[in-house]
Amino acid sequence: MSQETPVEQLTEAEAREELARLADLLAVANRAYHAEDAPQISDAEYDALKRRNAGIEARFPSLKRSDSPSDMVGAPVAEGFGKITHAVRMLSLDNLFEGEEVTEFDARIRRYLGLGADDPLTYTAEPKIDGLSLSLRYENGELVHAATRGDGAVGENVTENARTIDDIPVTLDGAPEVLEVRGEVYMSHADFEALNTRQAERGGKTFANPRNAAAGSLRQLDPSITRDRPLRFFAYAWGALSEPLSETQMGAIKRLDSLGFQTNPLTVTCDGPAELLAHYHAIEEQRATLGYDIDGVVYKVDDLGLQRRLGFRSTTPRWATAHKFPAELAWTWLEAIDIQVGRTGALSPVARLQPVTVGGVVVSNATLHNEDYIDGRDSKGEVIRDGKDIRVGDWVQVYRAGDVIPKIADVDLSKRPEAAQPFAFPTTCPECGSEAIREEGDAVRRCSGGLICPAQAIEKLKHFVSRGAFDIEGLGAKQVEQFYRDGWIKEPADIFTLRDHYGSGLQQLKNREGWGEKSASNLFDAIDERRRIPLAKLIFALGIRHVGESASGLLARHYGSWAAFEAAMGAAEPLEGEAWDDLLSIDGVGEVMARSVVTAFAQEAERASIDRLAAMLDVEEAARPEADSPVAGKTVVFTGTLEKMTRSEAKARAESLGAKVSGSVSAKTDLLVAGPGAGSKAKKAAELGIETIDEDAWLALIGDA
Ligand code: IVH
Repeated sequence: MSQETPVEQLTEAEAREELARLADLLAVANRAYHAEDAPQISDAEYDALKRRNAGIEARFPSLKRSDSPSDMVGAPVAEGFGKITHAVRMLSLDNLFEGEEVTEFDARIRRYLGLGADDPLTYTAEPKIDGLSLSLRYENGELVHAATRGDGAVGENVTENARTIDDIPVTLDGAPEVLEVRGEVYMSHADFEALNTRQAERGGKTFANPRNAAAGSLRQLDPSITRDRPLRFFAYAWGALSEPLSETQMGAIKRLDSLGFQTNPLTVTCDGPAELLAHYHAIEEQRATLGYDIDGVVYKVDDLGLQRRLGFRSTTPRWATAHKFPAELAWTWLEAIDIQVGRTGALSPVARLQPVTVGGVVVSNATLHNEDYIDGRDSKGEVIRDGKDIRVGDWVQVYRAGDVIPKIADVDLSKRPEAAQPFAFPTTCPECGSEAIREEGDAVRRCSGGLICPAQAIEKLKHFVSRGAFDIEGLGAKQVEQFYRDGWIKEPADIFTLRDHYGSGLQQLKNREGWGEKSASNLFDAIDERRRIPLAKLIFALGIRHVGESASGLLARHYGSWAAFEAAMGAAEPLEGEAWDDLLSIDGVGEVMARSVVTAFAQEAERASIDRLAAMLDVEEAARPEADSPVAGKTVVFTGTLEKMTRSEAKARAESLGAKVSGSVSAKTDLLVAGPGAGSKAKKAAELGIETIDEDAWLALIGDA
């Protein structure tokens, strides 16, 4: 079929094919334009494709795709993931924990189906993989999209990322015309350890456990990052199908296997609860040596006809359940409590334990969070562990619940040594001796030493060179720490004088471990490359408490230049007046964050260090919001249900056009965008005579229609 076939003459089958082709073409064009800044077709060609797509959808509304290009607002790849509505909802599983409950599960199903206790009933049993679920849609054997579970009804479009995963076939031979394969994306223990080591060396983010690593890796906006992360996939279920895969669950799994998917080798059929339980124990025994995380065993009725009859409750199938493993627990001695000092000066207590195996992993440290936690209270002041405090010398119960970082669940007071004393949380910093202060409302005690505290200085430097901040190739956490201990780098500015001070002495680097002339010279070049830096990255790199990546972006866009930002922070110092009000007027900047930035700039030593750094840099101005847009300078409020974009998407788009988005209607409001279900805000706007438009009119106004 050629593009010339007029829309009116397309048959339904041709239309379906053409919509798929247009979705692909437009997705490629969008990516090229928005994400790669390299348009491949002219605007006119792009518009013609979009019009044709809309024309076909108007003629065949039922064929409109869940990833229809008409639903795409702006630049999905650059702004976040697009949304995909699942053709069949992605559900979760009911849990059971005790052996007897397996018999009850079986009895419930028999009752529902009207089967006697002796009638045969077969189940499957398989490991419950601890990853994140993914739905893969194949049409005519081609992978057309991949979506995360999201809220079960609508997930995120992660197609490009899924394509980079080796276990996910991009084409299938002999598959049903429509096939949605569902399964779990996960990361093996070995790959997880290697990834974290690599990340730590580069000064990048490390992950708490393989599941978080898998989720973080799949949900990367840049598929080339996902490609570098060793993700895997087990298929265990399906969504929409144009024809059945088999008559049984086991048959369907075998079919998926023969289509080229990885299916779990520990999947078996069982006749009745006793066999299910036996397989549960068999899997539990192998758990520590599987090489990937599982958190239970899933039982499913094997006969798909019976599955259909059993159907679903609101969010879970009646024909399946998860038999969860108990939390992994072990008892051991608490030998010491050490205090670590972080970048923002937080004093974090760490339990040093007599090494003990918890679920196949040797544990010798556990987090103790903060002083209240040690005392027996959580962050809200509520009693935990029946109020028992934790003391050095205690016999403590350690658990790992999904997280790799173990925690202390309980203390056995009967074994507490008589001499054990309540833990005296330090009130001075163990690293620099400065006073450690706990502010009201903060569960954490912090060192007040700022940059004179070596622990804070090192953590700040590590943050400074991390991804998202300066991200200097060859200068990761390990290297800055080494340079700090050598006295070569005390603060960020020193990074940029490294060549001058030690440069003729490439020699000096040459002889040390891991460094040669080439790598030293590469490092100096990499540092020079970063002298020119976007304003937002510089603000983020300063490592000011409460100022993360997105807040840095807000500040950068608001102030535009380093000079303006720095001047404004100085002017806002009394925490009142025009500059202070202006800072607080930024949507997304609250008082806590504002106070934190202004205070950082007001501290003499910190300010001097920032100034020394800024003098080394050429700071790129942040793109100011488009000043000539029809909504620039206007205060806009969104209310009701938005159907073509999420609320946060709408807000980001409006802000990028120079509008200020507010959460409530007042006399200052210029425009109310009201979707269905708009209530009191619409009423108030009407009373105040504020212009009110619907979502389509908004899109037309800003040229996104
Ligand atoms: S079957 C209709 N099988 O566990 C139910 N789920 O807690 C389809 N999971 O959302 C799910 N391993 O992400 C199934 N072997 C397995 C699984 C499994 C892990 C996940 C899945 C599900 C969650 C429910």
